[in-house]
Amino acid sequence: MSGGIFVTRAIPEAGLDRVREAGIEVAVWPGPQDGSPSRREILHGAREARVLLSLLTETVDAELLAALPRLLGISNYAVGYDNVDVGAATLSGVPVGNTPGVLTESTADLTWALLLAAARNVVSGDAYMRGGGYRRWGPQLLLGHDVSPGCDGRRRVLGIVGLGRIGKAVARRAVGFDMQVIASGERQRIEASGLATWTPFEDLLRRADFVSLHLPLNEATHHLIGAAQLAMMKPTAYLVNTSRGAVVDEAALVEALRNGRIAGAALDVYEHEPSMAAGLAELGTAVLLPHLGSATRATRDRMAVMAADNAIAMWRGEPAPHCVNPEVYDGPPYRRRRLAWP
Ligand code: GLV
Ligand code: GLV
Repeated sequence: MSGGIFVTRAIPEAGLDRVREAGIEVAVWPGPQDGSPSRREILHGAREARVLLSLLTETVDAELLAALPRLLGISNYAVGYDNVDVGAATLSGVPVGNTPGVLTESTADLTWALLLAAARNVVSGDAYMRGGGYRRWGPQLLLGHDVSPGCDGRRRVLGIVGLGRIGKAVARRAVGFDMQVIASGERQRIEASGLATWTPFEDLLRRADFVSLHLPLNEATHHLIGAAQLAMMKPTAYLVNTSRGAVVDEAALVEALRNGRIAGAALDVYEHEPSMAAGLAELGTAVLLPHLGSATRATRDRMAVMAADNAIAMWRGEPAPHCVNPEVYDGPPYRRRRLAWP
């Protein structure tokens, strides 16, 4: 392929059709659905391409960028872009696109599915049924924790770390469960949202019955939740993570769950995805999903269209509608790349 868009793994047809309708050639790595292209295969596919459409499973680093001197953009099929070295991309004049907004509600829904599943033993209860363990109803069978106010009348506290698009959507749903919502982070923004009460991070950890993480992964958030933070949480509290695995020190989490330091964890993401920390899979107090936050048909289609629109704009040498490093367009490195194409 010469001068088209190279897609590292098959995305929904809605996105590929969009590119074809724009009259742009598109090539998709031909490997299996659950496989990922090697570095060599990405280079082979993208060498002659104008734009690389990547998935969060692909690492786009300085080495890869250096090997693709004519690339006009990286369109990442995800809202998160920690798989892309944006600093290196900016330096070498490559715009990076993402897919914000379209997966907010789906991810918030899944966050609640996880929270409720963990608090009310939905997954262990299901396994119990299938395993033939259910002989008769019993007052002590699989007791969980209240999400709505319990008979004590106490409103449960939902602690949201990262009150951005997804964090806010999670907070809105908490109204229906009559929870008290607190959030740590930028105080003014949180207070202006009207959705949560601002609380310092450590205070949030101490007070929350459910701690839910909604942060991008970067140097500042890597291992934000480690042994010390888990030790601050209530022994009856749950940790929910639908952001990025490495925001949590997963080995420390396994240790905390093992020791009953917290009541449970509900995870959609892992530090070394798709692997899990040793011991995690054996813990009955963990609910584990394979990164399904945005996994509804409609959302994945909309992500594909959005990633395609970013890629099409990049291909044309125009600003991408959703670009995480728009300053790149003003610099000489980008202009040099732009001039390399007709
Ligand atoms: C999924 O994790 C995304 O970042 O879109
Ligand atoms: C439970 O099923 C009840 O009726 O209390």
